[in-house]
Amino acid sequence: MIEGSHKLTGEVSISGAKNAAVAILPATILAGSTCTIKNLPMVKDVTYLRDMLIQMGGKIHILDNDKIRIDTSGIAAHNIDLELAKKMRASYYFLGALLGRFKKAEVPFPGGCDIGVRPIDLHIKGLEALGAKIKISHGLIKAKTDGLKGARIYLDVVSVGATINIMLAACTAKGTTTIENAAKEPYIVDTANFLNALGANIKGAGTDVIKIKGVESLGGCEYSVIPDQVEAGTYMIATAATRGDVLIKNIIPTHLDAVSAKLREMGVEITEYEDSVRVKAPSRTKAVNIKTMPYPGFPTDMQQPMSVLLSVSEGTGIVTESIFESRFKYFEELKKMGAKIKIEGRVAVIEGVPKLTGAPVYATDLRAGAAMVVAGLTAEGKTTISNVSYIDRGYERLEEKLINLGSRIRRIEEK
Ligand code: EPZ
Repeated sequence: MIEGSHKLTGEVSISGAKNAAVAILPATILAGSTCTIKNLPMVKDVTYLRDMLIQMGGKIHILDNDKIRIDTSGIAAHNIDLELAKKMRASYYFLGALLGRFKKAEVPFPGGCDIGVRPIDLHIKGLEALGAKIKISHGLIKAKTDGLKGARIYLDVVSVGATINIMLAACTAKGTTTIENAAKEPYIVDTANFLNALGANIKGAGTDVIKIKGVESLGGCEYSVIPDQVEAGTYMIATAATRGDVLIKNIIPTHLDAVSAKLREMGVEITEYEDSVRVKAPSRTKAVNIKTMPYPGFPTDMQQPMSVLLSVSEGTGIVTESIFESRFKYFEELKKMGAKIKIEGRVAVIEGVPKLTGAPVYATDLRAGAAMVVAGLTAEGKTTISNVSYIDRGYERLEEKLINLGSRIRRIEEK
């Protein structure tokens, strides 16, 4: 429950990146020994994966709030908790990791946020190109191989998940794998850096072409996950929406270039420091148009919070969602708070209103939930958001961080 219309002010520290952590945890299987992972965000998707690794025979010691030691030497390829795996998208990374280490894998078709069709054909094609035989039946993906061999793989759609899954499987394949039209998100670079720290030979992560020279085996390492650019971007937008002034710490400012550029265009003052950014909002932001694109374009994960800001900006903005076809469902919720939005397929026209008003609303997915929080923070009166477990999948200590910034938010039991 949020009592809105309070400016966010002060400082907030950003946690580790969820989408990097959910790739790095399954990747520890490839190490077959002990890894220490730091700056790990303790969000639900991370704890699900941690539980899955334990279930499979991994030994985990929690060393600190954001630091764990994980020994994957005792892991077996089977034993995957199908019910847990179905709950989240990132369980698909067990495919690449288990195939790489055990030459076989059995993983359920992944779940995750309902934001579109979300096929995994590119993952399958990529792994098949490396020599895996894959069968899908009754919601299960069964993969096996006599030995993976490097191959040249062109992704016809830029995909974060497929790029990472192929990288995982290719680390110990014979010969060289080349991924063309690879995704360039910071999560890709972070996962490649982690794999290289285990002893892999990956070059070009962060560009369109990634080359992976197969090595005999991998070992353990100590690694720190990069900061979460989506969490950081959400706080930047929330600051702008509440006309606040916040220093957002523990970030890599260049990862936020697309969001910073749009906020500047809207009249927000952004000052970048080495590992932080100060966001100072004007009395009212100006509308802009946004179109979601793979990195370094404007991120689809920021489309929802940004549309809330557009709802209270001066003028009319056009939002084009080009990555996921069903990422506009939350607009029905936003309209309950007084937003003026017209949707035509993947395009939304948002006419700014001076203010939103509090209402009971639902989180329709993770980032939509974050968007409803931003809406509640800027709205006049009380907003109650249901289904907040979605938000817990990707935002660490959300209420605590927001209360420290001066907002009035608390978790209440649903009646
Ligand atoms: C990752 O999802 C993230 N999830 C998403 O974050 C993020 O929105 C998305 O990348 C885009 O940045 C994780 O990292 C766990 P994709 P992913 O494969 O890997 C199509 C969040 O809120 N496609 O890059 O599933 C697909 O339909 C979440 O944190 C295929 O056609 O996304 C989409 O249009 C939600 N075939 C496009 O590619 C495939 O085999 C990009 O999807 C795979 C994808």
